Parts: sequence; structure tokens; C-alpha cells
Amino acid sequence: MVCGTPLCLFRGGDGRAAAMVDRCPHRNVPLSLGRLREGLLECRYHGWRFDRSGACQTIPGLCDADPGRRGRSAESVPCAEQDGFVWVFPGSSDPPAGGPTFRFPCIDDPAYDTVRRSLRSAGTVHAVAENALDVPHTAFLHGGLFREAGREPIEIEVVVRSGADRIEAEYIGEPRPPGVAGRLLAPGGGVVQHWDRFILPSIAQVEYRLEDNHLLVTSALTPVTPTETRLHSAVTFSLRVPHALIKGLLPPLAGLIFAQDARILRHQAQSIERFGGEQFASTEIDVLGQGILRLLRRAERGEPGTDPSDDEPAERRLRMRV
Ligand code: FES
Ligand SMILES: [Fe+2]
Repeated sequence: MVCGTPLCLFRGGDGRAAAMVDRCPHRNVPLSLGRLREGLLECRYHGWRFDRSGACQTIPGLCDADPGRRGRSAESVPCAEQDGFVWVFPGSSDPPAGGPTFRFPCIDDPAYDTVRRSLRSAGTVHAVAENALDVPHTAFLHGGLFREAGREPIEIEVVVRSGADRIEAEYIGEPRPPGVAGRLLAPGGGVVQHWDRFILPSIAQVEYRLEDNHLLVTSALTPVTPTETRLHSAVTFSLRVPHALIKGLLPPLAGLIFAQDARILRHQAQSIERFGGEQFASTEIDVLGQGILRLLRRAERGEPGTDPSDDEPAERRLRMRV
């Protein structure tokens, strides 16, 4: 489901991914109820069959040599497969030349392993991206799991870099988070390098490095409806801790953290709806929220790729207690 439009994805006879609006042109039954027959998508109701382009190839029972007439096509949506994800491009007639611009980093590197999950949450793309990249809530909402509330806070420096298609915060001097997740990342402790970044069209990425330990959490955010978002997340890691252990522990741990986030995002969305809109008070430690919103607004106006505006300098520095 993208922006309220249900889509049906399948693989054509050549194995390539195809996407179409999930509505049979005949009597509007969802095509996703159908099945694949000889490389064609067959509707469940009367058995019309469609190819990857949406053209109707077969109409059972029709004494007509040309089933693929105008008005009988399913509405295809351009799509492209990359890094094990299928990207769809509603509203355009072709996928971008060269494929989607964003590559999931390190996903093909044999030194890394990846755990993927697809999750749905209440909230706009902006709310979900900000949540994924927000440091101050972690000690509070995820106390004990991620960062620990209650211990003496440490002051660290944050460098915020803003580009045409992205905004990034680098956290300098942050000790390894004391919670369970930090212990997994670096059992020996130390100072982590940590970046949070938002990249257009809708990528939220958290990156940690500690010596040769490297962990990336990359989420592509799909607006399911204006107030609901699907996260296609890949946790990609190269760590000293045995990867089999990480693969066993990561899903339940990430699941707990995500459940806490999803619950608070649901309450946030309900509250915003009840009050008829957002009314946010922000401080400078809401590091990326405003920048993400500016990028999304610019993209909505069809102006991505322009230089950062004066109100978002290319680089700014601030201090924060974690
Ligand atoms: S509704 Fe799909 S074939 Fe009739
Ligand atoms: Fe969170």
C-alpha cells in the first residue's frame, strides 16, 4: 500500500519484479488474490491474465483473438529491484534510469550479515523518521534496553551536516551505550562513532562504529497512508561477537524496541488527530526533526537536489547530554 493505493507485486515469467495497482480492470477484484500462471498474473474471479506491463493476455471463454484491447489493462506501476528490495515509483511512467539512487550499504559485503524486517507503524513518514533518528527518547522510552536513564549524563558534541538530499548528525565522544544493545555491539566498552542520517526520498539510517565493529540500521519508509508508515529495515553488521549470536538475539531485542516506538507513535498520531494538527515545541537537541521536514517539503514541491537553504547551514555544532 503506497499513499493509500493498494499495489500488487509479483514476478513475471522472466523472474523480474512487477507492480500494479491491486484492482482487476474487469470487476475490480484485488489482483493480489490471484495466482501466477505461465508467467502471467491470473485474476481469481474470471481468470483474466495479465503480463508484467499490465496488458491482458487471456480472457477465458472469450471468442476473440485479441484480448489485450484498450481498457482491459491492469494499471502497472514502474518498479525496480535492488539490494533485495523492490522499489515502486507511483506517478511516473518509468523507473529512474540506473535504478533507485539509494543503495543499502555493505549489504553485499561478505564480511557483513543482514537481518531484514518489514514493520508497520502509525505516524507520518516525518514522525517515524524522526523517531528512528532521535537520541533523547532512547534513554527514556527504551530505558535499560538501549541507553540507560538514571546514570550521570555525559556531555557530547553533535555535528549536524546538511546537504541537498540529506541531513546527518554525528555524535562525538559518546561512550558505548550501557544498555543491552550497547553490550552486544561492543562488549569491551569504549567510545562509539555514531551517525544518524535522513536521506531522500525516505531513508532513516543509524550507523555505529567502534574499532572494527560496524553496525548500520537502514530503514526505507513507505507512506502507507498519510498517517501510517511501513518501515523496510535492514540491520547490517560486521561485529566481533559471533554473528550467529547476533542473528538470534537481534530480532527479539529489536522487536521490543520497535514495539515501544510503535506504541508511542500510535499515541502521538492519535493525539495529533484529536487536536486537529501538529503543534510542536522544539529545542536544539531535537537535532534532525526540522531538517527532515524541510527536506520532505522540498521533495513534495518537486525541488529535491537544491542546495541547503540559509536557515539550515551546511554544518552546525551543538552540545547534548546523553
Ligand atoms: S474481476 Fe478479474 S477477471 Fe473478472
Ligand atoms: Fe525508539
